Amino acid sequence: MQQRTLGRQGLTVSAVGYGAMGTTFAYGPGDDSESIAAIRTAHALGVTHFDTAELYGWGTGERLLGTALAPIRDEVTIATKFGFTPETYAPDSRPEHIRQVVDASLRNLGTDSIDVLYQHVHDPAVPVEDVVGTMQEFVQAGKVRYLGLSNTDAEQIRRAHAVHPISVLQTEYSVFSRESEELFPTVDELGIGLVAYSPLARGFLSGAVQPRGAYAADDIRHQLEWWAPEHFDANVGVTAALTDIADAKGVQLSQLALAWVLAKRDDLVPIPGSRNRSRVAENVAAADIVLGDDEVARIDALSRQVRGKRAMG
Ligand SMILES: NC(=O)c1ccc[n+]([C@@H]2O[C@H](COP(=O)([O-])OP(=O)(O)OC[C@H]3O[C@@H](n4cnc5c(N)ncnc54)[C@H](OP(=O)(O)O)[C@@H]3O)[C@@H](O)[C@H]2O)c1
Repeated sequence: MQQRTLGRQGLTVSAVGYGAMGTTFAYGPGDDSESIAAIRTAHALGVTHFDTAELYGWGTGERLLGTALAPIRDEVTIATKFGFTPETYAPDSRPEHIRQVVDASLRNLGTDSIDVLYQHVHDPAVPVEDVVGTMQEFVQAGKVRYLGLSNTDAEQIRRAHAVHPISVLQTEYSVFSRESEELFPTVDELGIGLVAYSPLARGFLSGAVQPRGAYAADDIRHQLEWWAPEHFDANVGVTAALTDIADAKGVQLSQLALAWVLAKRDDLVPIPGSRNRSRVAENVAAADIVLGDDEVARIDALSRQVRGKRAMG
């Protein structure tokens, strides 16, 4: 698999990464042994970057990922995130909370160091200088290698980067969600790489999208605008037109969606999530698909027809 460099501090990972959120959070119940097999399949096919967070099951997701990667820990990079409180799911980046959560993440992952530590979401109650100053303590102690931010704005990125180099911004980016493009000038100027989360639009770009009633009661897609009854059919129409482009190229819709994200920037790594081995293999194979300028332009035009705002978090 081709490699991509994120930021200017030396972080280099596979062009397609793996997002582990769905193994323990957001998309209904999973099967842990299937999820572990899916994670190990990703590695066997060349994926070296794996993403989780405290939020994804309050430690459960980190433990599952740590278990899956334990035999191959030295061959991969692991990213995790702090920044929410379990009581209310509200932002919490107070320094004492960060210290507790990162120490717990190290234990949960069963590792001596976290490769990328993210602030998961901007916390309006804590100056970002204090947040990054606290993250930096872990770098100085050798417990964290690279710093990242997620779900934030240009001003916060700039202020954070002035305290300690930020290697990567993790932001939602897909054919369905292009709001992050407004941050591109800032990350270009500061030399920060991008990790694209929910690159399959939370499964809408999977070729197997269902009306929201088909998902489990605790599935977050019940709350997402793309699935709202007034938007759903129009968005299915967009995916049908995208599928025509995919069919003409002999690839899957999900692969076309990932290839489009990969084509947008060479300092960007998408982290699709799947709990299924064959779907993981499909996603990884997207790294080898090259889109022509005309194909990118047609997909760009269709992306403008998507209805409903992206979700955050
Ligand atoms: N920083 C943040 O705030 C934030 C927010 C959201 C996500 N993330 C990160 O980004 C990662 C990916 O995002 P995501 O999981 O929200 O969404 P995604 O990757 O856009 O889509 C995941 C959904 O698509 C399905 N899927 C995946 N590959 C497929 C394929 N080839 N064919 C058919 N269906 C497929 C998965 O189901 P199956 O599992 O059943 O295959 C799952 O329901 C997360 O795991 C997490 O690490 C970060």
